[in-house]
Amino acid sequence: MKLTDAERAMLDGREGKAKQKAMDLLVRYGEALGAERLVDVNNVAGTWNAGSPAMKPFAEKGMDAVFSKFNLDSDEVVETPQAEVYTCQLIHGIDTQNAHVTGVAAEAVERQKQAEKYFGRRGVAMFNTCTPYQVGNVPVRGEHCAWMESSAVVYCNAVLGARTNTEGRESTGAASITGKIPYWGFHLEENRYGTHRVEVEVEVDDMMDWGLLGYYVGEIVQEDIPVLAGLTHTPSMIKLKHFGAAAASSGGVEMYHIPGTTPEAPTLEAAFGPKKPVGTIKYGKAERKLAYDNLNSSAKDTAVDFVMLGCPHNSIEQVWTAAKMLDGKKLSPNTQLWIFTPRALRDTAELNGYGQMIRDAGAHLMSDTCPAIGRVMPKGTIVVATDSAKQAHYLPAIMKCQTWFGSVEDCINAALTGQWRGGLS
Ligand code: F3S
Repeated sequence: MKLTDAERAMLDGREGKAKQKAMDLLVRYGEALGAERLVDVNNVAGTWNAGSPAMKPFAEKGMDAVFSKFNLDSDEVVETPQAEVYTCQLIHGIDTQNAHVTGVAAEAVERQKQAEKYFGRRGVAMFNTCTPYQVGNVPVRGEHCAWMESSAVVYCNAVLGARTNTEGRESTGAASITGKIPYWGFHLEENRYGTHRVEVEVEVDDMMDWGLLGYYVGEIVQEDIPVLAGLTHTPSMIKLKHFGAAAASSGGVEMYHIPGTTPEAPTLEAAFGPKKPVGTIKYGKAERKLAYDNLNSSAKDTAVDFVMLGCPHNSIEQVWTAAKMLDGKKLSPNTQLWIFTPRALRDTAELNGYGQMIRDAGAHLMSDTCPAIGRVMPKGTIVVATDSAKQAHYLPAIMKCQTWFGSVEDCINAALTGQWRGGLS
C-alpha cells in the first residue's frame, strides 16, 4: 500500500504508540482488501463502550486497556489519544438511565458511565444512537467517512451521498485517531452505481410499506445496489431510515438510489452511470404480501407481551406521534411498550412533555440501545410486536421469541389491548 509521508511517520511511531498501532491496523486491513492507499476521513462513527461482560476484565485495568484491545486490536496497552477527527459514539448495549427497566446490572452501568466520561473527554461525541444523522452528524455529499452500523451506513451512502463502507469497531477506532481509512469499496465512484432496477407497481407511502419494500428488495439484491423506479410518493427522512434498515437486514444493502430523490441519482440513467442493470425486479401486490408473510412467519400467539418502537431510533416526530396515540390511555397490564430514540432527542422529548405523556400511559421512553443490540426485553417475553422490519428479522433468531410486524398503529393498539390485530390491507 502506498503511504504518504505523514502516514509513514505514524506507522514508524513518530506520532506515538497509539497512532502506530492504528496505522499498522489500517495498513494490514487495507492490504487484505486490496486497497492501494488510504483516504482522509473527517467523520467517524463507532463504539467506545465498556459495559458488556466481555469488557469487564479490561475495564478493571482502566479504559486505556479497553481502547487498546477493542478499538485498536492491541494486546499491548497504549494511552488513548484525543480523537484526531470528528467522532461519535453509536448505539451500544446499555441505556444508563433505564437499567431498572431493562434489568442491566449496576456494575455494567457504572462501567459504561466511566467509558462515556473517559472517551467523551478524548473527543468522542456521545450520541449513543444508530441514527447519528438525526442528532447533528450529517456529512455532506462526497465526504469520506468511517461508519459502523448497517442502517447508518446505508443512510450515509444513499441518502446523504457521503461515502463509507461498513466499518468495524477496530477500524473506526484507528480512523478516529489517524483520520485515515482504506480507499476501497464505496469510497470509489465506480462502486456506487446501481445494479438492479426495481419496478415498484404498488403504492408505497406509509412507514409499513417502506419497511416491506426494503425487506423484499434486500432479500433479492443482497449486497448489490437497487434503483427504485415507479414510486409515486417522495419519501421523508423517517421512511428512508426505515427502508434502508430493512434492506440492510434481509440483505446487505449499503447503497441504493431513488431517481429524483437521492443525491447521486438525478435521473434513472444517472443512477446506473456507465453500467447496465444486471437485473430487473418487480415489486407488486404478491411481492408485498410475501415480504409481510416472511416478516410475520415466527408469530402465532396473538397475546402480545412486549411492543418495541424505535428501530432505527425514532425521530422526534415519531416520538410525538406515539405520545399522541398514547395520550390519556393506559397500556394493557399484560404488555410493555418501549420506545427508543437518540439520547439528545430523548432530552428534547422530555423538555416537550412527550416523555411524561408516554410514561403516563405506562410505557418507557428509552435511548442508547435496542432489544437486538442490548439483548434486552421485558422478563418472560414470548410474543413481541414491532413496526421495524429489522427487529422483526433479528428478534426471533437472537431472542427466541415470536415477533409480529405491522404499522405503528397496529403496535400501539397491541400495547393498549394486549392483542395483535394487525394485518395487511
Ligand atoms: Fe438501530 Fe438497533 Fe434497529 S441498532 S437500526 S435500533 S436493530
